Amino acid sequence: MRIHVLGSAAGGGYPQWNCNCPMCDGLRRGRISARARTQSSIVVSGNGTDWVLFNASPDILAQIRAFPELQPARALRDTAIRSIVLMDGQVDHTTGLLMLREGRVPLEIWCTAMVREDMTTGNPLFTILGHFCGVDHHEIAIPSAGAFTPRGADGLEFTAVPLTSKAAPYSPHRDNPHPGDNIGMRIRDTRTGATAFYAPGLGAIEPHVADELARADCVMVDGTFWTDDEMVTLGISTKRARDIGHLPQSGAGGMIDVLRALPAKRKVLIHINNTNPILDEDSPQRAELARHGIEVAFDGMDIAL
Ligand code: MLT
Ligand code: MN
Ligand code: ZN
Repeated sequence: MRIHVLGSAAGGGYPQWNCNCPMCDGLRRGRISARARTQSSIVVSGNGTDWVLFNASPDILAQIRAFPELQPARALRDTAIRSIVLMDGQVDHTTGLLMLREGRVPLEIWCTAMVREDMTTGNPLFTILGHFCGVDHHEIAIPSAGAFTPRGADGLEFTAVPLTSKAAPYSPHRDNPHPGDNIGMRIRDTRTGATAFYAPGLGAIEPHVADELARADCVMVDGTFWTDDEMVTLGISTKRARDIGHLPQSGAGGMIDVLRALPAKRKVLIHINNTNPILDEDSPQRAELARHGIEVAFDGMDIAL
């Protein structure tokens, strides 16, 4: 399988349009060594020709331009994106769907019943798309009803994993969490047997999540914040990382503690918030990740498994 990172930043991207935190301002002024990043999304392929899009970020048009394999130009109107999987209903993971409205056939979208509810109520993108290309919705059952293979995932099997995180602010059940608000995905290559576990929003490591992490050859997980109080300390927000469903990297029980113990060959952080000091390639925080063999995803990162 191939995993290609279209966007590695959390909501807002990096640098964020209105932000002058040390990371955003540092990048603009050339004071730090860092790369700009678009919002969280990956594509996955089993056969190298057809791709499944995981999440549709507001930056999707630029992301498609930056990865020509998604436009094979076999017909007047064409795409290599055969289906779309949504991990949650958040703005940074769904609003790019509107940019795909010129599709020649209904968008083949896999998501949970909870995310579908959000996409037809609080953030009614499916309803809006009904006036354009339409949506061919496929439900991802929670608890998992077994592995599934969306169109364009030849040679791959996906298994959804429910996660404790948080529904989007506009969700009818924002403060009443339901299984299926957020999921992770096990992606297994049936030929090589290799598995990846993808979870860009991960708030807690429940036992079933620890099992998934332990069996994966590649983990690509929530890299949003370095500390729980990162945005509070900067004076940007009153929200703590854990309040909004993101496990911070540092500290006891943080993501570094979780990842360092895993046998996985690749340990990759994705969905990096623009405030996170790991964006600075010369920072002590980045050096600490490197010491533990933990990589920081960047736009264009390509992983073959
Ligand atoms: C999140 O991951 O917590 C959300 O996407 C934040 C946002 O984009 O507003
Ligand atoms: Mn997000
Ligand atoms: Zn910033």
